[in-house]
Amino acid sequence: MYKTLSVAKDTWWVGVNDYETDLFESLWPLPQGVAYNAYVISAGKTVAVDTVKGSRFDDYIDKVLSVLDGRPLDYLVVNHMEPDHSGVISCLKRTYPDLQLIGNAKTVPLLKEYHGIVEGVIQVKDGENLDIGGHLLTFYTIPMVHWPESMVTFDGTTRTLFSNDAFGGYGAHEGGIFDDEKPRERWEGEMLRYYSTIVARYSGMVQTALKKLSGLDIANIYPAHGTLFRHDIRQVIELYDRWSKQETESGVVVAYGSMYGNTRRMAEAVCRGVAEGGVKNLRLYDAARADTSLILSDIWRYKGLVLLGCTYNTLLFPALDALCTKLVNRMPKKRVLGIGGSYSWSKGALDALRAFADTVKLEKIGPEVEVFAAPTEADLEQCVELGRNMAKAVL
Ligand code: FEO
Repeated sequence: MYKTLSVAKDTWWVGVNDYETDLFESLWPLPQGVAYNAYVISAGKTVAVDTVKGSRFDDYIDKVLSVLDGRPLDYLVVNHMEPDHSGVISCLKRTYPDLQLIGNAKTVPLLKEYHGIVEGVIQVKDGENLDIGGHLLTFYTIPMVHWPESMVTFDGTTRTLFSNDAFGGYGAHEGGIFDDEKPRERWEGEMLRYYSTIVARYSGMVQTALKKLSGLDIANIYPAHGTLFRHDIRQVIELYDRWSKQETESGVVVAYGSMYGNTRRMAEAVCRGVAEGGVKNLRLYDAARADTSLILSDIWRYKGLVLLGCTYNTLLFPALDALCTKLVNRMPKKRVLGIGGSYSWSKGALDALRAFADTVKLEKIGPEVEVFAAPTEADLEQCVELGRNMAKAVL
């Protein structure tokens, strides 16, 4: 979005779109860009809530100056120190030397280490208030959603929750910025992709945060990425509740790693069994070529997961192994898992997938299928049976 937008009484969006960063955290593709949402409340005092990535200071400060119209900036609320939201703090402090920064006990050392800032820092406690003249701000810590110092800020006057990473999504703002300005399918997929890549590991802490914030009378949820929610906040709270409880939909993801197509034939046979079992939500991914963030999103959405890998240098095929590592890190639960492997001169893939299954402790669905060289008709029939059994387990 190219200009400031009024988003509540005395409150402006001053964030920026980023279409240049191709990989968020140098990991996750951004085909639709990403927005760093930041806000300014201009009331008795002037307050910035969050900032933007360091490389976007020019765009950001132009908007801040426009909103403040000659007034100084009194406070910056630092809800989160990850540099996509804190990157311009040093520049902002140089622009406004009397600026006071607001954070919690976990924010303070990060401000010092990232920006060398130790003066003019106000350390707030969980639930502490700040009266800025006409608006009462309350700060709530939500540790590990997404870092230890993560917190949210609630403006009791406009009933706006500035939620930082929580409820955030990938995707830059095109014309619409609010949930009532774009179709749900436009933002939900990118929100789930953000959740499954960035937040999913901390799902237990998301549940703790949702419980802590459940007593607030919230009208607007304004995150630090993606869509601003003002029309129906229940729908995003329900999504976050479901994703963090790891509640899933009926569906199966089949991800495979194959060098010469033999393991892919196994995967296709599994998919045939899933379809014969009556499951329409079926996603087949080549782990070596598909965007891992899309695989993770669908794994977070659906109950069934089948992993099939060939053996490579006595180990699991690297692309599938990398997916397994990312899954172990995110600690998936309440899902069912089927596995299979292939080998030629040395076994290894299926053993690695068995070790993965033991680690993640998901309910196993059989049969396990192991193929020597190319799958026989009998091998493929076993794969179809695995698919049918997965369908039974997820429906
Ligand atoms: Fe969007 Fe954890 O930073």
